[in-house]
Amino acid sequence: MIVTILIFLSLPAVNHALIDRRALVSRYNPVRTSGFNLSTPVQVGNGNFAFGADVTGLQTFSPFAIMSSWGWKNDSLPPGRTWEDVKNYHGVSYDNHGRPVEYDFGGDPLIEQWLISNPNRVNLGRVGLVFFGANGSALETTLDNVSNTFQTLDLWTGTITSNLTFDGVLVSVATTCAQESDIVGISIASSLVSQGRLGVFIDFPWNDGSNKFSAPFVGSFNLPGNHTTTLHVETGPGAGTFAQITHTLVNSTFLTTVGGNEFNITRDAPDLHRYTIRPRWTSSDFTLVVGYSLDPPSYIPDFASISTSSHDAWARYWSDAGFVDVISGSTDPRADELQRRIVLSRYLMRVNEAGDSPPQESGLVNDGWYGKFHMEMYFWHCAHWALWDNWDLLHRSTPTYSHFLPSSIQRAQVQQGFATGARWPKMTDPLGRSSPGEINNLLIWEQPHPLIFASYERRSFPDNTTVLQKWRNVLHETADFMAAFAWFNRSTGVFDIGPPMYPVAEDTNPNITRNPAFELAYWRFGLGLASEWMSALEEDVPVDWTDVLECLAPLPMQDGYYAIYEDAPKDFWSLAEFTSDHPTLAGLVGWLPPTLGLNISVANATTHRVWTTWNATNLWGWDFPMLAMSAARLGDPSQAVNFLLHPDFQFDDVGMPVGGVRVPTPYFPGAGALLYAIAMMAEGWEGSTGHAPGFPKGWNVTVEGLSSAL
Ligand SMILES: *[C@@H]1O[C@H](CO)[C@@H](O)[C@H](O)[C@H]1NC(C)=O
Ligand SMILES: *[C@@H]1O[C@H](CO)[C@@H](O)[C@H](O)[C@H]1NC(C)=O
Ligand SMILES: *[C@@H]1O[C@H](CO)[C@@H](O)[C@H](O)[C@H]1NC(C)=O
Ligand SMILES: *[C@@H]1O[C@H](CO)[C@@H](O)[C@H](O)[C@H]1NC(C)=O
Ligand SMILES: *[C@@H]1O[C@H](CO)[C@@H](O)[C@H](O)[C@H]1NC(C)=O
Ligand SMILES: *[C@@H]1O[C@H](CO)[C@@H](O)[C@H](O)[C@H]1NC(C)=O
Ligand SMILES: *[C@@H]1O[C@H](CO)[C@@H](O)[C@H](O)[C@H]1NC(C)=O
Ligand SMILES: *[C@@H]1O[C@H](CO)[C@@H](O)[C@H](O)[C@H]1NC(C)=O
Ligand SMILES: *[C@@H]1O[C@H](CO)[C@@H](O)[C@H](O)[C@H]1NC(C)=O
Ligand SMILES: *[C@@H]1O[C@H](CO)[C@@H](O)[C@H](O)[C@H]1NC(C)=O
Ligand SMILES: *[C@@H]1O[C@H](CO)[C@@H](O)[C@H](O)[C@H]1NC(C)=O
Ligand SMILES: *[C@@H]1O[C@H](CO)[C@@H](O)[C@H](O)[C@H]1NC(C)=O
Repeated sequence: MIVTILIFLSLPAVNHALIDRRALVSRYNPVRTSGFNLSTPVQVGNGNFAFGADVTGLQTFSPFAIMSSWGWKNDSLPPGRTWEDVKNYHGVSYDNHGRPVEYDFGGDPLIEQWLISNPNRVNLGRVGLVFFGANGSALETTLDNVSNTFQTLDLWTGTITSNLTFDGVLVSVATTCAQESDIVGISIASSLVSQGRLGVFIDFPWNDGSNKFSAPFVGSFNLPGNHTTTLHVETGPGAGTFAQITHTLVNSTFLTTVGGNEFNITRDAPDLHRYTIRPRWTSSDFTLVVGYSLDPPSYIPDFASISTSSHDAWARYWSDAGFVDVISGSTDPRADELQRRIVLSRYLMRVNEAGDSPPQESGLVNDGWYGKFHMEMYFWHCAHWALWDNWDLLHRSTPTYSHFLPSSIQRAQVQQGFATGARWPKMTDPLGRSSPGEINNLLIWEQPHPLIFASYERRSFPDNTTVLQKWRNVLHETADFMAAFAWFNRSTGVFDIGPPMYPVAEDTNPNITRNPAFELAYWRFGLGLASEWMSALEEDVPVDWTDVLECLAPLPMQDGYYAIYEDAPKDFWSLAEFTSDHPTLAGLVGWLPPTLGLNISVANATTHRVWTTWNATNLWGWDFPMLAMSAARLGDPSQAVNFLLHPDFQFDDVGMPVGGVRVPTPYFPGAGALLYAIAMMAEGWEGSTGHAPGFPKGWNVTVEGLSSAL
């Protein structure tokens, strides 16, 4: 039986007549005047690379990170261990319905920890202003020596302008990022330049996998003995100077290429990795371009071309994709804050969450979980791209599923002995290896996600048969594993999910977690989408899928409400241990459309009980947009907006989604979920009626180029 019918809608034509997009975007250009924000940087970037700046437009005072989707390294192996030990690592086996299944946790603790923290993501470096005294030596400079700091980020062009005065003289810095390569353009205007009193330093940190979270800064600039740098300089006649610094950490090498106007570059001391750049330039305007890469770049653009690249790409991004205006004509005083969150999230998602692999929770701002990413979070990070018509950005990372397919088939069938399918990793890195950890390896809600990404793509490109073929194997193996994972329980005559497993809220005993409500619904939804896909390909729907779909356990119930899992403690509603994590009982109608067999009034009653029972101060990030989606689908748009503006769901002065009680800032799944919820509330969902069905009276919502949610 097929659960959901995809309706093929062509995208509405983008209508630019109503919204003055540039004015609305620019209204929220962040401004910082006080010297420090030690929590979060202002950023420029391109999705695969980002540069975090302090109030000087560089990293003069605060070593905010320069991070990428490609900059990873391995630490040395633990003492006494070899690569053979890594290759031969085996975790424990847990009983799965009478069969031992091996997972990646337990086993040799030294190798286990190495595999958790390797490879880890590096901070590529630091660039800052340096001031020179009358005798030409660098001055010790602190924020106390500069005044009149005033910084703005022009969202429309991706340019930071930072003004300050030093010794009574104005210094104006523009910072921007190329979009086709990972190069920052820096333009400095000050008479201090022509006086020989202002230059730039470049520095390199050591960082290793000893810290799970490295916020707000990544790495240490005080352990020069742990890594090496070497400088190579070339000066061409008439051209500028090109310098290249090779930075090696353990066995990984990263290149920093510096070009621009002519300069001298010297190493501060033989045992330091800090280099000083002095403009060899008599004008007061000095430009420098600093690029980061694994291989030598074939071409170093100048500042003007970097600036053009940034202007063009950002203006296209803002002009061509989806857009929503919730402020013009709205009477709710909170509309301004919601519009601010939308605009700043759109900016930050393109900087941090549009790379060649799924993003980490802190994007390219700092490191959480050693810089690794989590496939179960990929939905919240990136599904909004599909609804906002940013297929170019989403297409960068969705091929990850194909890359991970062989190792995920190996995991499911060889390591774990399931009959068929591919089991996706949870916490991982571009290698696709599953990071050890009990939760990492027993969560399962990452499994259906590719079915959602693929279904959105097919809906947006209904005439393109390549899309059907492109996803075929990934979808087939995904659904095969879902069917194989479901276990036929002869005593009840239905297929069970788990045990062992962890549900989305990682707060139950995996050994007794059977048939959690959300995962059951997601399995139904996913297998339905997979079956439709096979029908569209004119292939037979595998009988295993149909069997599981038709005979999957019903959603567990207790006393007229859905329960978190089958045989959950009767009083779980009043136990903090069960009501303090992701409230996915509210996701049965909201995050998901109603699935086969769902009783809408039970779901409604359950959702209302979740709203009043769960500990809201312990929720974080995407929980709030997920709750908003439940309110929208259940016909309570006032409550939907309340959730999006809940006091425990915050975005800071530059729009960074605040982590809250549980995770460091920024926590980008909060921003991705906000944009997904906004698209759904503004454009609707399958079966919704009317304009902006998720917004209540008092809101004037103008929508351009968004797609509805499934
Ligand atoms: C710095 O960021 C924090 C949140 O991370 C925010 O609450 C605060 O207002 C910011 N401070 C300034 C001076 O902008
Ligand atoms: C890290 O080591 C793994 C082997 O465990 C290797 O496949 C990978 O390429 C290495 N990555 C880096 C960045 O050196
Ligand atoms: C680094 O290279 C050396 C020499 O090839 C090798 O023995 C060592 O295992 C490598 N270490 C890492 C972490 O890649
Ligand atoms: C689950 O079972 C495994 C053995 O199969 C055991 O090692 C583990 O401690 C159990 N976990 C809990 C929370 O009971
Ligand atoms: C340059 O002047 C500063 C004081 O402005 C002094 O501390 C420093 O030692 C001098 N350096 C040299 C090389 O003379
Ligand atoms: C910085 O100073 C320049 C030169 O006075 C001025 O044109 C520009 O508007 C200023 N920008 C900011 C953000 O204050
Ligand atoms: C880094 O340097 C510190 C201090 O010198 C030292 O204790 C540590 O072992 C070094 N780590 C590596 C991986 O080289
Ligand atoms: C740059 O280096 C050259 C050659 O060493 C030297 O003559 C010149 O004074 C330096 N210029 C600056 C601005 O440091
Ligand atoms: C609603 O917003 C649109 C677009 O910004 C605007 O043209 C229209 O005048 C607004 N309606 C009201 C009633 O203010
Ligand atoms: C069809 O989709 C494929 C895969 O995404 C893409 O490479 C191709 O350009 C698309 N073709 C057309 C005509 O849009
Ligand atoms: C859902 O339940 C609430 C509270 O019990 C009720 O007010 C509302 O009418 C119900 N909505 C639907 C769609 O059943
Ligand atoms: C709710 O969560 C907050 C934040 O974690 C915690 O301080 C508080 O004790 C919790 N309240 C209850 C009733 O568990």
